[in-house]
Amino acid sequence: MTGVRLTDKVYLVGGSAYGVSAMGDCNLYLIDCGGKLALIDTGGGAGVPDVLDNITGLGFDPKTLEYALITHCHYDHIGGNKALKEATGCRIVAHESEVDDIENLGELTLMKMSLDEGREFSAEKVDLSLQGDERIEIGDVEFNVIHTPGHTPGGLCYVMVEDGMANLFTGDTASADGRLGFINGPGYDHEAWKRSIKKLISLEPERLFPGHGTFRLAGGVTALQNLDRSWNVPWNVTARG
Ligand SMILES: [Fe+2]
Repeated sequence: MTGVRLTDKVYLVGGSAYGVSAMGDCNLYLIDCGGKLALIDTGGGAGVPDVLDNITGLGFDPKTLEYALITHCHYDHIGGNKALKEATGCRIVAHESEVDDIENLGELTLMKMSLDEGREFSAEKVDLSLQGDERIEIGDVEFNVIHTPGHTPGGLCYVMVEDGMANLFTGDTASADGRLGFINGPGYDHEAWKRSIKKLISLEPERLFPGHGTFRLAGGVTALQNLDRSWNVPWNVTARG
């Protein structure tokens, strides 16, 4: 497996859909912050060795990973928290409303669904809880934190500007193709989600880096506007048991 450079600063280092890491991983994006690294989400957990190999293979030192910026609490985005922190010393960042579920693998994480699929997880402490509207400086990159409830109550998107263009890491709040197909669960709020998409449109992002499916290297705001117009009904599930 190998990582893939997407822009000057953004790399895909995990994602089972792309064969970049093990099954159960969302897309994991590595940001080169000039001597320091940031990672968007930690995947399902089984892919952590692949992710670490990919980071090394791209010429980076995993020990320079400063932060894992969690987009939301679903198991396929937080399952690697413990192993990644142990391997790199990174700090885990998440929205304050989801900290308890992340640290205790609670109902919001949909962990029961994943356990039914035979996966194993270990919980890990969140090091920094956010509300949204913060700015996080890592090396030479500044991330703006956007609270985007809807898919889950504490959804966070992260924006960084590169070459004058906004890169938007959307988690499961927005796909890159103007459609939604994500699994929702407890805490899902359709009206809040609509408001969150409008908030993201106001940022006029050029590039979209979602937690699943394709990414978009141009015309990001157009994809969000298409999503805002169509609003196909997402697939809703509730955690079993
Ligand atoms: Fe999700």
